[in-house]
Amino acid sequence: METKNKIIEFLNYLKEIYGEYIYTEESFQGQNNPYIIKESSQAFSTSQISHSLDIFSIGTDWFSAKTLTELEQKINKCTKCNLGTTRTNFVFGDGNPKAEIVFVGEAPGEEEDIQGLPFVGKAGRLLTKLMKSVGFEREEVYICNILKCRPPKNRKPLPTEVELCKPYLLKQLELIKPKIIVALGATAVESLLNTKVKMAELRGKILNFYDIPLFVTYHPAALLRTPGLTQEFLDDLKSLKEIFEKGFKK
Ligand code: URA
Repeated sequence: METKNKIIEFLNYLKEIYGEYIYTEESFQGQNNPYIIKESSQAFSTSQISHSLDIFSIGTDWFSAKTLTELEQKINKCTKCNLGTTRTNFVFGDGNPKAEIVFVGEAPGEEEDIQGLPFVGKAGRLLTKLMKSVGFEREEVYICNILKCRPPKNRKPLPTEVELCKPYLLKQLELIKPKIIVALGATAVESLLNTKVKMAELRGKILNFYDIPLFVTYHPAALLRTPGLTQEFLDDLKSLKEIFEKGFKK
């Protein structure tokens, strides 16, 4: 019954927005395929992320939040998955609510879980240092993760956890309206695009995520494990800075 009501609510919601027609995936074929890699010169149009097709979030308390603060207050007691019972703190995200760049990592680690803030542990400190070295200040950007709660022993997020947590991230992005999103590491890219990726092929490239340019680079923890990747990561950040300055800065 719960599911039936959800479907009715969802269809009424679609009717309100789109009218009597039901648009199927086929209707949209060829338009805005989220996985097509665009040339960086084409990737300048930005559009708002819409939640209109998120059937399970429509009607929830947080779905209509108007600010990040309101959203955080409405979701920080979340127990949709088991991580809600094992976390110390919910790690919503941190930074400029009007940021033009949003960095997205995988999930909070031990230090993040203790402090309730993203990227404050060893990998986070490295990220902050390397960002600063190319001219990005942490306060001007926004940083968050695919998952808002720490997986035990920092294990990889489970697909169901990603599925349940991702609507929160989409809502954050809808409110922030960034000009570019930076996916840190394979888990972030794969979770955003629902597809397997090869980092070596994608790093430094710009993909399309709901018409928002999605820049891909390594996760800073990978640099701690393999310091040889640091130069490539710095090259990526420099090219991101260049793209950003040339293409997006007013
Ligand atoms: N790794 C992540 O992906 N996110 C954090 O917040 C910290 C480490």
